[in-house]
Amino acid sequence: MVEERQADDVSWRRGRAVAFGGPGDLRGRVARGRYDSRVTPATLGQGALVWLTGLSGAGKSTIAEAAHAMLRAAGRASYVLDGDRVRTALCRDLGFSPEDRAENVRRLGEVGLLMADAGLLVLVAAIAPYARDRDLVRARAGRVAFVEVHVDTPLAVCESRDPKGLYARARAGTLVGFTGIDAPYETPSRPELVLSTMGTTVAEMAEALVARIELMAR
Ligand code: ADX
Repeated sequence: MVEERQADDVSWRRGRAVAFGGPGDLRGRVARGRYDSRVTPATLGQGALVWLTGLSGAGKSTIAEAAHAMLRAAGRASYVLDGDRVRTALCRDLGFSPEDRAENVRRLGEVGLLMADAGLLVLVAAIAPYARDRDLVRARAGRVAFVEVHVDTPLAVCESRDPKGLYARARAGTLVGFTGIDAPYETPSRPELVLSTMGTTVAEMAEALVARIELMAR
C-alpha cells in the first residue's frame, strides 16, 4: 500500500515536472501513457495574477472566460475571479464607495495572489477604477507575475450594451457613484496589455492575452 502510494507520488511528480516542458510536451506524454491518468490535464505551473480592468460592460468577464478556456485546453490550470461573483459572497459586505472599492480590490488581489502562489493562472475581472488600488496589488505581487490588462471599450459602447440596466439608472440619477458616469475610472498608465475591443473578436483578444501570459509566467 505504502509502496503503491510512493509509486503514485513519483509518477505524479514526474507528471508535474514534464508539464513545465510546455503544454505540447504534456499532451504528448499523456498520449503515450506516461502520465498519471488521475492528474487532470490542466496542470499547475508558474502562477500569475492577471487583472482585467475596465468599465462595467467593457467585456472583462467575457475575455477572461475565453482565455480561461484556451488555457485549460492547453493544459494550464487557471481560474476566473469575477468581481460580480465575488461581491455576492467574500465581498458581500462592500459597496461602491472609494474605500469599499479599495477593500474589494485588496481582497481580490490577496485571494488571487494566494492562488497564483499555488501555481494557478488567475484571471481577475473587476473594474478596479483607482490606479492606487491596482498599484497596491502590483506591489504585493512580489515574485508572482502581475499582468495588468486594460480592457478598453468606449463608455458610449458600454452604455449602449447596458446588460443590467445600471447605466440607465445612473443617468436617471437613481444609482449614484456609477463608474464612468458620476464616479471616476482612472485609465491605466502603463498596463502590460491594452485590449482595444472595437473591431476585434473575443477569440483574438483571448489569444493575445494568453500569449502575453505565456510570456510572463514561464
Ligand atoms: S470595483 O470597482 O470594486 O472593482 P467590481 O468589479 O467588483 O467593482 O463590480 C462591478 C460591478 O458591480 C459592475 O459590473 C456592475 O454590475 C455592479 N455595480 C453596481 N453598482 C456599481 C457602481 N456604482 N459602479 C460600478 N459598478 C457597479
